[in-house]
Amino acid sequence: MEIQQIKPEETYELRHRVLWPDKPFDYVKLAEDAEGWHYGAFRDGELLAVISLFERDGVARFRKFATRPDCQRQGLGTWLLEHVIREAGRLGAHLLWCDARLSAAGFYQRFGMKPDGAVFYKGEIPYSKYVLKLPPTP
Ligand SMILES: CC(C)(COP(=O)(O)OP(=O)(O)OC[C@H]1O[C@@H](n2cnc3c(N)ncnc32)[C@H](O)[C@@H]1OP(=O)(O)O)[C@@H](O)C(=O)NCCC(=O)NCCS
Repeated sequence: MEIQQIKPEETYELRHRVLWPDKPFDYVKLAEDAEGWHYGAFRDGELLAVISLFERDGVARFRKFATRPDCQRQGLGTWLLEHVIREAGRLGAHLLWCDARLSAAGFYQRFGMKPDGAVFYKGEIPYSKYVLKLPPTP
């Protein structure tokens, strides 16, 4: 397995298939994709999981985190999120956050992320903001 930085357009298929299969394909494209950092987890050359990172003024946010359904629960997401936490620190961020689907909240809590604010909905899916304070970079 390896993690590689990838182009935004390489994330779209997994974003769509895993996160928003009922929406039009273009729904998963973000206006800010060009300014982000995108990472993929590969096994035998196949892209199995993606995550996108955005940083501004010391605050980093990850979005569109998705592992191919038949490859979930194999550690790929853990590996990618650990990478993104390190990358956010490298970019100088002191805070990392995401809009977490509540179905994934237990997963984020395992990384020390904490809920911040009320539950809200995108369509029928409940979310909460989850934040992680990052240690100062040396
Ligand atoms: C959330 C998501 C990205 C995590 O990716 P993943 O590759 O499944 O992550 P991991 O395999 O590292 O961990 C997921 C779970 O599998 C467990 N796991 C990891 N390796 C495992 C293994 N070898 N055997 C059994 N379980 C394992 C983890 O402990 C974790 O448990 P949890 O569900 O109780 O938290 C993925 O589940 C996903 O795409 N979900 C649907 C889309 C989604 O909700 N995205 C996040 C939106 S905020």
